[in-house]
Order: sequence, then C-alpha cells, then structure tokens
Amino acid sequence: MKTVKTISKALIILCLQLGLIACKKTEKKYSAYLELQKDTLTSETQIFTSDPNILKFNIKNIDQHPPKGLNIELIKYGYKFLTTTSRYVGYVVSNPKKRYAGNNLACVNCHISGGTKAYAGSWIGVMSSYPAYRTKNGKVNDIYMRINGCMERSMNGRPLEKDSKEMQGVVEYFRWLNTDKKLNYLPQYKGFLKIDLPKRAADTIKGKALYNKECFYCHGTNGSGIFFDDRNVSKGYVYPPLWGKQSYNLGAGMAKLGTLAGFIKGNMPYGVEANDPKISDEDAYDIAAYVNTKQRPSPPDLEQDYPDRLTKGADIPYGPYDDIFPEIQHRIGPLQPIKRYYLQQLKERKK
Ligand code: HEC
Ligand code: HEC
Repeated sequence: MKTVKTISKALIILCLQLGLIACKKTEKKYSAYLELQKDTLTSETQIFTSDPNILKFNIKNIDQHPPKGLNIELIKYGYKFLTTTSRYVGYVVSNPKKRYAGNNLACVNCHISGGTKAYAGSWIGVMSSYPAYRTKNGKVNDIYMRINGCMERSMNGRPLEKDSKEMQGVVEYFRWLNTDKKLNYLPQYKGFLKIDLPKRAADTIKGKALYNKECFYCHGTNGSGIFFDDRNVSKGYVYPPLWGKQSYNLGAGMAKLGTLAGFIKGNMPYGVEANDPKISDEDAYDIAAYVNTKQRPSPPDLEQDYPDRLTKGADIPYGPYDDIFPEIQHRIGPLQPIKRYYLQQLKERKK
C-alpha cells in the first residue's frame, strides 16, 4: 500500500512539474511578446527569420546600409504605412477623406515582419512577380492593382490612388525587398504554407474547442481582438480580430479555408515558424473552418469575381459557381472532389 502511495505521489509531482514547464514555456513567449508592446507595434520590431540573408531588410539598419538608387525616406514612409496602416487610412482617422480602409488592421498583421517572414505572405521579390494575370479579376494586374486588391478585400476598403504618398511609399519599400535577386523566387517567400488538406469536411465543433484552447487568449473568445488603446482605436491592434465587422471581408484571400489553414500552421500561435509548427494540418483545417464560417463583411462586387468560373479555386467561399457542389462544401470541404470536377470540366472544354 505504502509503495502505491509513494508512486502515485511521485506521479502527481511529476505531472505538476510537467504542467509547470509547459505553462512556463507559454508564459515566457507571452511575456516576451508583451515586453515588445510597450511603445511600439510588435510587427515593427519582431523579426522572425532563420535565413541570414533576410536580416539586411531590417528597417532599423537601412541608414547604415542604404540601398542604391532608392529613396530611403520614401521606403521608411512605406514601412510605417504597412506596419501602422490604421493610423494613416483606418476607418476612424480624423480626416474622413483618408478613411480608405474599412477596418483597423495593418497590412503586416498578415504579411508578418514587414513582409519578410517565410510562409507569411512575404513581399520579398514581389516586384518581380507583377504585372501578372489574375484569375480573380480576369486581368493583367500591375503591382498597384494587386495592392488595391488587399485594400478592398483584406482591409475591407477602397483603392489608394496610384500617385498617393502611401502607394508610392509601399512600392518603394517593395523595391527595396527586391534587391537581392537570389531570394526573389524562393518558395518560402511566395504566399503561405500549403497544408495537406484532409479528405473530409472540416469539423467546426472541434475547431471551436481548439480555438478556445490555442487562440482565444490573444484574439478573444468572440474573435474581436484587442486594441492597443481603447481610447484611440485608430492606433490599431495588439491582437487583430479574426471575424466580425472589423475583420477581412468574405472576398479576401484569408477567407479561403486552405489559405487560412496554411497561415495558422505556419504562423500561429504568434511566434511560431513554419519549420517548427505547433498546430497540425488536421487541427489547422478545423480551426480555419470555424473562423471562416463566422460572420464577416461582404464586399458589393463578389459575383463579378472569376469571370471564368472554372478558374475559381475550390475553397472560394462565395458563389456563383459553375458546379454541382453546395456552397458549404466550398467553405468547409472536402475540397478534393471539387478540384477533380473542375479539372475534368477544363479538360472537356479543351476538347
Ligand atoms: C487579413 C490578411 C491580410 C491583410 C490585412 C493584407 N493582406 Fe495582402 N494578402 C493576403 C493574402 C491571404 C494574400 C494572398 C492572396 C491569395 O491567396 O489569393 C495577399 C497578397 C498580397 C499581395 C500579393 C503577394 C504576391 O506574392 O503575389 C500584395 C502585394 C499584398 N497582399 C499587399 C498588401 C498590402 C499593401 C496590405 C495593406 C494595405 C495587405 N496586403 C493587407 C492577406 C492580407
Ligand atoms: C500570443 C498571441 C496569439 C495567439 C495565441 C494567436 N495569435 Fe493570431 N495573431 C497574433 C498577432 C500579434 C497577430 C498579428 C501579427 C503581426 O502583426 O505581426 C496575429 C495575426 C493573426 C491573423 C491574421 C490577422 C487577422 O486578424 O486576420 C490570423 C488569421 C490569426 N492570427 C489567427 C490565429 C489563430 C487561428 C490562432 C490559434 C491557432 C492564433 N491566431 C493564435 C497573436 C496571436
């Protein structure tokens, strides 16, 4: 009896210690995070990279290593705009004419570390990718059109003028991120992580439970995020919102199941990097479906997207569709049958 007691006591102590270690680990990350919040945005200071070549794009060192032929002041302006977007064009800035965005997000809330983080919608080399044809609007898009795509959808707003200082600053900043030719076409600096999509419908109930375990303590149980300063919300967020009126709209890239799942696996909880993820493919898929089936704004012109409807990705969450699947399947999967159907249709059209 005594030995059983000692063993169980030892087990309890072991469990407690393990729990404590796990807690401490999260706590450490969390407090390091809060430390950074003191007077500036995390996104402005935190550089995530295991690629030493990226360090030269740390804005803090730009004066010591000025890029040739570029306007440094304009680059700095662009960087400020990208990292504190809501202070320039947020929906509550004092000059109503400057309210280009319909929410208070910053571009870098999704394009993390000033667009230099691997698998986080990086802008490294983006100037070499445009102009490019986009199936979404069926047109060749230059960089200005592409930026405005995010203004209208991710930022739920309206386009910036091409000759505005904001736009010129962003493009000058992108030019800087385009100055190391060997980085420009690396896959980690193109878009987000791709997950192995489970061959089943996502489980939004499981997604909710996982959200309440892994995400709520920053983004809130109702997904509304946390402002820097409640009295001055145009300063933006410490933790951006994930759904509701202040989030990206239904037409945004992040509203797609696959894109959000990849973003989550590669970047969340905050601090995670794609080469050492915390959330599995299966879990990221369920969480993404939970988040993306919540209410969010709907832009007016959705039905004009994808003029060639057979080029519509399987996980575009809004119709009209040229297929036989219900809308909910586009939102929560399984996506493989939809992909197969579209491929088949495209093949038949070619005949
Ligand atoms: C809510 C998240 C989010 C926010 C905020 C956001 N974007 Fe994006 N952005 C995306 C996603 C997702 C994509 C990829 C789109 C896709 O998968 O269709 C993207 C793509 C882009 C691209 C094209 C990248 C490439 O490699 O082709 C540019 C340029 C861009 N965004 C600029 C911006 C700018 C500038 C802002 C701020 C005004 C911004 N984005 C805000 C999510 C966001
Ligand atoms: C420790 C805090 C923390 C946790 C936990 C966390 N996030 Fe985030 N999340 C952030 C921060 C901070 C950003 C903005 C990143 C930046 O600006 O550099 C962000 C950005 C995002 C974005 C893009 C911006 C937006 O609002 O649309 C999404 C989507 C997101 N997180 C989803 C999740 C999900 C899903 C989970 C749970 C698996 C999660 N996050 C867990 C802190 C956190």
